[in-house]
Amino acid sequence: MKIAVYGASGYQGKLVLTELARRDIEMVLAGRDPARLEGAASAVGLPGAERRVAGSDDHEALVHAFRGCHGVINCAGPFTTSGEAVVRAAIAAGCHYVDTSGEQLYVKKIFDAFATEAENAGVTVVPAANDGCVPVDLMAQILADHLESVEEIISTHRVVGGGAMSRGSLRSLVATIDAIKAGGITYYDGEWRAGVPARHTSIRLPGESEATPVMAFPVSEVVTIPRHIRLRHVEGLTEAALGDQLNAPLTSEIIEGLPEGPDAESRRTQRFTYVLDAAGTDGRRARGVVRGPDTYGSTAVIAVESARRLIADPAKPGVLAPAQAFEPTAFLDFLVPYGIQWTVEEEPAT
Ligand SMILES: NC(=O)c1ccc[n+]([C@@H]2O[C@H](COP(=O)([O-])OP(=O)(O)OC[C@H]3O[C@@H](n4cnc5c(N)ncnc54)[C@H](OP(=O)(O)O)[C@@H]3O)[C@@H](O)[C@H]2O)c1
Repeated sequence: MKIAVYGASGYQGKLVLTELARRDIEMVLAGRDPARLEGAASAVGLPGAERRVAGSDDHEALVHAFRGCHGVINCAGPFTTSGEAVVRAAIAAGCHYVDTSGEQLYVKKIFDAFATEAENAGVTVVPAANDGCVPVDLMAQILADHLESVEEIISTHRVVGGGAMSRGSLRSLVATIDAIKAGGITYYDGEWRAGVPARHTSIRLPGESEATPVMAFPVSEVVTIPRHIRLRHVEGLTEAALGDQLNAPLTSEIIEGLPEGPDAESRRTQRFTYVLDAAGTDGRRARGVVRGPDTYGSTAVIAVESARRLIADPAKPGVLAPAQAFEPTAFLDFLVPYGIQWTVEEEPAT
């Protein structure tokens, strides 16, 4: 099995390279800048690793970079800028594709634009193979199976600690800031719509006696969940306190002056909690909770395992949500030794 990592020179890209090496998977480092690719290979202790140079604006070079590989892991954000070109080239090269994007409208675009192309090429594309969308989308399917018929799913994200976001995450934030401030899209009455006010302004998070104020937030599972669960409403939320941070000035100069990403110690102290509240059409309710450490380290594990599964145990071709591509319980259980815990409770107190 051979996997190409596009954006291999970035912060997330290097974590993915390290995870591929740990799992003894053959890799190609791909990206637009030969010197930065060489630096990345040395930084992760793989100075002899195969490297292929291709800009995201050069389709032929990208296809050449991916040719002979079984899969592509794209870590080159902002995906809103260059992601579609990488998906197109991966499909043309006959590679399965995953990426680490958290850009909601980009994820929707990939489903809308590439389904037929991927099907015709016999490859599977799974965007947003990151710490949030994969476990939450898988959990949604488990809740739907449990409740049998679902009306609404609310996904609330909370991340505590971990220091500053990576420069790449901040660039993605800037590239999509208008959509983020507007709360992103909601799956509302059977279709995706912008500008839908959140149904919830506070949520009682696990282990807390008081409800936490929340606001609409563009999580990718709003795009993926309705692809495999028949329901009327999916909305994404995060703590309302994040709203103030979104108004802080963030220029390219400020971002360039920051560290590439959180150091290993900060990553170790970071904790994420993703809470999924599902309401059944019969009035029953269930809550799924995914907790884990280190969003960037967990994303590396999840992206590599997603690509590996697509190659070793192919899903149907096309653009798929995580739960369409992977068996939910098996994938979530795979993550447990990495510190990612998942639970399902019926009828949480509200
Ligand atoms: N849960 C989540 O939503 C989640 C979790 C983890 C990561 N992510 C996302 O993953 C992405 C990567 O983050 P990061 O910290 O690794 O960023 P980074 O350190 O800035 O790395 C970005 C990489 O992409 C390449 N790149 C950027 N723009 C490009 C373009 N137009 N054409 C070709 N290559 C391009 C860069 O190449 P050069 O080195 O040549 O500049 C670099 O290799 C971000 O979008 C981040 O939001 C999301």
